[in-house]
Amino acid sequence: MPEPEKRADSRTASARSPKRVFSEDEQLYRPLTVDEDRQRTNTHYEQPVEFFTTLTGGEWNVYSANMWTGSHSQTESQERKLDILAEMMELRPGMRIMDVGCGWGGPLTYLSTKYGVQGVGLTLSSVQKAAAEERIARYGADVTIVESHWKDYVADQPFDAVYTDEVIVHFFDLGDFFKKVYGLLRVMKKAVRA
Ligand SMILES: C[S@@+](CC[C@H](N)C(=O)[O-])C[C@H]1O[C@@H](n2cnc3c(N)ncnc32)[C@H](O)[C@@H]1O
Repeated sequence: MPEPEKRADSRTASARSPKRVFSEDEQLYRPLTVDEDRQRTNTHYEQPVEFFTTLTGGEWNVYSANMWTGSHSQTESQERKLDILAEMMELRPGMRIMDVGCGWGGPLTYLSTKYGVQGVGLTLSSVQKAAAEERIARYGADVTIVESHWKDYVADQPFDAVYTDEVIVHFFDLGDFFKKVYGLLRVMKKAVRA
């Protein structure tokens, strides 16, 4: 039986253009110093606050995905999602919680005022910190914003829950991150990641 004719197929690996090799600087996931991390992350988050408030919308300017099932507005969809986080953390009045990567402070302000918890938010951006503090003052929320990389943060008291939402995509060293979170929690520990 004659051999089937071999035709050049644009789908074969040899027909595709060679894979681009990224330089070390272009690699998304690689170990960075705290300063490099801050500089790189802030290239995005230190754009004008109005850009992000327009982009995210709603009352809480949640950057990550919201819960649209049964919601009729951006604010409602943000609150539904945050209520799920609250349920996962089993929030009760008087608890102390941390938001690693708190953005412009909307989620923590909502959780603190609705559930009566005390919050600490971490951000790498002074622009975000200022915007979050303005919001916190407006709501009279019991929330403190700390401009710090999670690696550098030193707690003076333990937390009942630590959460992070749409943030760990920035982290190369997840093992170290979860060890850090474990060390921040009280004995009855609860960590939530969305
Ligand atoms: C996509 S925003 C998410 C904001 C908020 N969690 C939300 O869902 O609206 C990412 C946030 O993570 C913070 N962030 C990124 N890397 C960080 C790090 N290593 N330590 C502390 N915060 C960090 C950024 O400054 C920014 O506030």
